[in-house]
Amino acid sequence: MEELYDIQSTRLVSPQETANDSDAEFSLRPKTLSEYIGQERAKQNLRIYLEAAKLRNEPLDHLLLYGPPGLGKTTMACIVAAEMGVQIRITSGPAIEKPGDLAALLTNLQEGDVLFIDEIHRLSRQVEEVLYPAMEDYALDIMIGKGPAAQSIRINLPRFTLVGATTRAGQLTNPLRDRFGVLLKLELYSPEELAKIVQRSSDILGMPCLPEGAQEIARCSRGTPRIANRLLKRVRDFATVLGKEAIDEECAKLALSRMDIDKLGLDELDRSLLRALIEMYGGGPVGLDTLAAALGEESVTLEDVCEPYLMQMGFLIRTPRGRCATPAAFEHLGFTPPRIKEDNGQQSLFEATEL
Ligand code: ADE
Repeated sequence: MEELYDIQSTRLVSPQETANDSDAEFSLRPKTLSEYIGQERAKQNLRIYLEAAKLRNEPLDHLLLYGPPGLGKTTMACIVAAEMGVQIRITSGPAIEKPGDLAALLTNLQEGDVLFIDEIHRLSRQVEEVLYPAMEDYALDIMIGKGPAAQSIRINLPRFTLVGATTRAGQLTNPLRDRFGVLLKLELYSPEELAKIVQRSSDILGMPCLPEGAQEIARCSRGTPRIANRLLKRVRDFATVLGKEAIDEECAKLALSRMDIDKLGLDELDRSLLRALIEMYGGGPVGLDTLAAALGEESVTLEDVCEPYLMQMGFLIRTPRGRCATPAAFEHLGFTPPRIKEDNGQQSLFEATEL
């Protein structure tokens, strides 16, 4: 894996999947749409599309799932396959290096199967070219020979459903995006939904969680089930060692504070980002790359991992001139927010924007 993901995997509140998550996630993953908590809008529509495809005895149209990491895109793809009663093959954009790799995957599918490609925005152009006729006509165009004698032959494929997942729908090429019949956006989960997920997971893990304990973990999970389940497992360790029979509020609070996660779920990287924005740039606006360089982090880490949650919490805003910390961010970190001032009849964001 790339360095980016190594950096991420050291963070307890990183939404990126680590090797340790995948085993546990597998058993905690809901297997049917009715077990799946949250994403009500996406689920409502998906239910109809699945029902219609089953009634027509056709595979589901190709489906693109997009949204921040850790929200259950793989889980949703597995549910699609389970609900359709077909097999799923799971791969990812970077794993398909050559057109031949994709051809091998496609020719091994059975009628109706789901092919799940995670991080589909990272497919190479040559591989994407092979995918177009496969998606559109269930066909593979192969070149035989070279030079003037080269011939193209077409191989028919079984009808299948491609489920693509991406954290960055904007990075998909238009021809690829246009070939998906269904686009579903996954949103960050509410604390109530996350508390339900924590309760469900803790029952599966055999350590019950009292409602206050689940709410505490949910509040710190950045809207992301993957983080909620990861935190739950660590809180469970504390509960086990403390000889508790259930995770209560006290135990959850103790464990979370020992993990350096504050009461709103911000970890050290989030707080460093906001602190740099406030202390070095007067609250902004400052460009993402400048901020990333100041923190010694990759821009994409800040953009994909920290920012969605900081924006959802109302701590950060993106403006055409750069990132700004909001008064709520100043207050959360113990700074005095700058005075809001009038500017030609229009309100500028903050006084600090004059930097
Ligand atoms: N575990 C992880 N994500 C979940 C979800 N959305 N619903 C139920 N359990 C989950």
